[in-house]
Amino acid sequence: MANSISLTCLLLVVTLFFRCDAEAVDDNRKVYIVYMGDRPKGDFSVSSRHSSMLQEAVGSKRASDSLLYTYKRSFNGFVAKLTEEEKERLASMDGVVSVFPNGKRELHTTRSWDFVGFPQNAPRKAAESDIIVGMLDTGVWPESKSFDDTGFGPAPSKWKGTCETSKNFTCNNKIIGAKHYRADGQVPDVDIPSPRDSEGHGSHTASTAAGRLVSKASLFDLGSGTGRGGVPSARIAVYKICWSDGCYDSDILAAFDDAIADGVDIISLSIGGSFPLNYFEDTIAIGAFHSMKHGILTSNSAGNSGPGASSITNFSPWSLSVAGSVTDRKFVTNVLLGNKNVYQGVSVNTFQLHDELYPLVYGADVPNVAAGFDSSDSRYCIYNSLDVTKVNGTIVVCDNLNDGTTTLDAGATGTIMQDGGNKDFAFSFPLPVSYLSTRDGTTILNYINSTSEPTAVIQKSTTIVDKAAPYVASFSSRGPNPITADILKPDISAPGIDIVAAWSEATTVTGDEGDTRVVPYNIISGTSMSCPHATGAAAYVKSFNPTWSPAVIKSALMTTATPMSTKTNIDAEFAYGSGQINPIKAAAPGLVYDITEADFVSFLCGQGYNTTTLRRITGDNSSSCTKANNATVWDLNYPSFAVSAKSGQVTRVFHRTVTNVGSPVSTYKATVTAPPQLSIQVNPITLSFKSLGQKLSFSVTVTAEIPQTIISGSLVWDDGVHQVRSPVVAHSYA
Ligand SMILES: *[C@@H]1O[C@H](CO)[C@@H](O)[C@H](O)[C@H]1NC(C)=O
Ligand SMILES: *[C@@H]1O[C@H](CO)[C@@H](O)[C@H](O)[C@H]1NC(C)=O
Ligand SMILES: *[C@@H]1O[C@H](CO)[C@@H](O)[C@H](O)[C@H]1NC(C)=O
Ligand SMILES: *[C@@H]1O[C@H](CO)[C@@H](O)[C@H](O)[C@H]1NC(C)=O
Ligand SMILES: *[C@@H]1O[C@H](CO)[C@@H](O)[C@H](O)[C@H]1NC(C)=O
Ligand SMILES: *[C@@H]1O[C@H](CO)[C@@H](O)[C@H](O)[C@H]1NC(C)=O
Repeated sequence: MANSISLTCLLLVVTLFFRCDAEAVDDNRKVYIVYMGDRPKGDFSVSSRHSSMLQEAVGSKRASDSLLYTYKRSFNGFVAKLTEEEKERLASMDGVVSVFPNGKRELHTTRSWDFVGFPQNAPRKAAESDIIVGMLDTGVWPESKSFDDTGFGPAPSKWKGTCETSKNFTCNNKIIGAKHYRADGQVPDVDIPSPRDSEGHGSHTASTAAGRLVSKASLFDLGSGTGRGGVPSARIAVYKICWSDGCYDSDILAAFDDAIADGVDIISLSIGGSFPLNYFEDTIAIGAFHSMKHGILTSNSAGNSGPGASSITNFSPWSLSVAGSVTDRKFVTNVLLGNKNVYQGVSVNTFQLHDELYPLVYGADVPNVAAGFDSSDSRYCIYNSLDVTKVNGTIVVCDNLNDGTTTLDAGATGTIMQDGGNKDFAFSFPLPVSYLSTRDGTTILNYINSTSEPTAVIQKSTTIVDKAAPYVASFSSRGPNPITADILKPDISAPGIDIVAAWSEATTVTGDEGDTRVVPYNIISGTSMSCPHATGAAAYVKSFNPTWSPAVIKSALMTTATPMSTKTNIDAEFAYGSGQINPIKAAAPGLVYDITEADFVSFLCGQGYNTTTLRRITGDNSSSCTKANNATVWDLNYPSFAVSAKSGQVTRVFHRTVTNVGSPVSTYKATVTAPPQLSIQVNPITLSFKSLGQKLSFSVTVTAEIPQTIISGSLVWDDGVHQVRSPVVAHSYA
């Protein structure tokens, strides 16, 4: 279908991330990741252990050729070229947790921080400049104003990372470290083999998380304002793992191995697969688990595969999964017809056309007959389907959303695209484009039919206020959690739509051929953009509370999130999790739900992981899976509550423990809201704290008439100052 092909192209512009098959390598060998859990302790040589395992599996002659990578700084494993047989041999060896193919993932402001209630003058701590944000992405454009280090002191002393300095790339006191990763060494020709970003995505995400203040950041005056990250004084460590052909699992794990050992405080990863994997066969979940063990929270994009149910691919309970929502600023582009009627479409159009009006043609009326096309192709403006002589200099109407390159190649001045697709976020194109509803498109086609010389012009974009905001974007991946249905995912939502942030000057606005607009700031959308907002918020929380564990930071963000509406989000918590981030409230949440590594081990035990596997993953021979620590999913101390069943009535009991981080002496009362099909009973209903750090436990008994999709309630602990809110959902995706 012409429609879906072109949409795929466009989505690549928004930089989604998919997982593809493992790359084929010569002589039937494929690249596999051999994951061996935690880093062994003591002076034991990891590398020689990996070599001897490989020698045993592939023979001593091949072993050194087949080894591509060794992970040993933060966890244990290696990457090797193996046949199917050799893979099986390795998988059965002592110490191996999993062996899986080297899959490939692809890529998933001005107004946004203000919109979530986090103004430029928000209170700040000096400790912010000691925070190091690790960005695993496409690299960075170090010359961007967002990464200027004027006024920054030297890197914090805890930093142990390096900067891959070259003629073309140097770090500074803002970007304190940078490295590129490519296990197979085959950097595509169009890429720069250094941490320099030639895509734009990595500069955009890094500046959103931790870029400094830059006044008048805009894309040709669109979205103009002060550009800033969540923690403008924090430091950035860059791990370039994504290339024009995607992001390989072997490189993702190598970057985690380094980032953890380098001493970053938080890891941000706007990358994902396209289908769910078990926790210890998914490099992002593995990396996030070892980060968590080292006190580092990993912030992940939920994915851009929504709005279908269970489309989320980053959902490990030890990481933060971030959905993408709109702000109240929407980019619209007017189309003016010769008859003076105006139609408002959606796009980011930076072009200012000179003439008042241009000839208007319908793609279906101008097929490239000489090349064998008819109107059934040319109405969708598919490649080469348009008659150049009739299209040159006109504005062309296409019955779909496409990337604009076909009409641009055919010499069109502009393109009106129309179909029933979602209009909740705006794409950029290499020529003037407005994307209209089918209704307005049909009206324009009628105008073309009823006029001898139809004309139109596409105006430069403007912004309007979207009063329905915030709501989660159509493309944002939805829950429920595909592996553990009773852990609610995503966790939270943050702005991800039409975000203005730094860009790479090695590319253009769209990166499309024919686009000549090299810009320092660009406007793009995706959960890739929401993730670094949550990363920045988490770093902000950590700057106030440097000793907090990853689970506590995550709890703070979730329990203080601004609830979102089920009216504008029909998937409710499966779209937004606990709600929209609120960084200032998250810095002082009152109560927190902590989860230790041992708690995750008990959870994994209950999920069927045995003692052998758990010991390998944790590197701790005292870990075990016994009756005593066989925890139900409902007992993981998660800051949200979910019950699932196919149908009927179910009752689940959750045990939770909260830690007082608010006022030493305080009394919290439980408030519950729930629709009639959901009963939520809390025991006790009052928690009286006498000191900071004190922990008190309670149980929540949820009885639900399982709905067709999802029903939502909530539990709020309130001391009159703090409202510690958790969503409580019941759903039918057991
Ligand atoms: C250095 O970076 C520029 C982009 O700024 C690029 O055009 C050039 O090819 C790079 N040179 C090398 C040797 O990588
Ligand atoms: C369109 O017409 C102009 C002159 O009118 C010409 O220079 C240009 O090459 C034409 N474009 C295409 C794609 O044929
Ligand atoms: C325009 O006219 C053509 C031929 O007269 C007809 O086939 C087509 O349906 C009309 N389109 C619209 C949108 O009315
Ligand atoms: C533990 O689980 C792994 C992975 O499922 C399995 O291969 C292994 O045989 C199990 N070990 C024991 C002792 O049950
Ligand atoms: C844990 O036990 C395994 C298997 O018995 C052993 O090889 C390993 O050295 C032990 N690790 C530690 C840290 O004691
Ligand atoms: C843990 O509990 C589950 C469900 O009750 C049971 O199937 C499993 O055998 C238990 N495992 C252990 C080690 O007790």
